[in-house]
Amino acid sequence: MFKVGIITASDKGFRGEREDISGELIKKMMSDAEYSISKYIVLPDEKKMISDELINMSNNLKLDLVLTTGGTGFSPRDTTPEATLEVIDRNAPGIAEAMRYHSLKITPKAMLSRAVSGIRGSTLIINLPGSPTAVKENLEFILPALQHGLEILKGLASECATRTNP
Ligand code: MTE
Repeated sequence: MFKVGIITASDKGFRGEREDISGELIKKMMSDAEYSISKYIVLPDEKKMISDELINMSNNLKLDLVLTTGGTGFSPRDTTPEATLEVIDRNAPGIAEAMRYHSLKITPKAMLSRAVSGIRGSTLIINLPGSPTAVKENLEFILPALQHGLEILKGLASECATRTNP
C-alpha cells in the first residue's frame, strides 16, 4: 500500500471558516483506491508553511505521494505551485498537463489552474485545484496511471513494455 499525505491550502479552511470538503474527498477517493492515508493537514495559503510540510512529508515521513488541494489559481494568496516548485528536484509535468488536458474538455476555466507535479527524493507531489468538483474530475483521471508511476519511482517496477490494458 502506498502512503499518501494530503495538504489542503486554504486560508478559510485553516481559520475554521470553511469545511474542507476537498480534503475529505481526496481521503475517500484514495482510501477507496487502496492507498493508505498517513497524514492530512489544513494549512493557510502561506508558501513557507506549505513547502515546509512538503519537506516534512517527503524527508521525515517518507510518504510515497503527496496530494495538495487549493491555492493553484490566480489570487495573490495562491502559492501552492511555487511552494511545490521550491522543493521538488525533478519535474513531472505530464501529470499536471494531463489534468488540464482532461479538465479543459469539461470547463475552459481549467486553464486557470497553475497546478504543477514533480518528485522530491522518492515522493511524488501533485497539486490539485481547490474545489471538490475539480478534485474529483482531476483525481479520477490521473488515478489509473499513478500506481504504475509510483511503482517505478520506488523501484518496484522497471519497465512499461508489458501493457495489457489502455
Ligand atoms: N478543473 C476542473 N476539472 N474542474 C473545475 O471546476 N476549476 C478551475 C480550475 N480547474 C476547475 C478546474 C478554476 S475555476 C480555477 S480558479 C482553478 O482550477 C484554480 O483553482 P484553485 O485556486 O482552487 O486551486
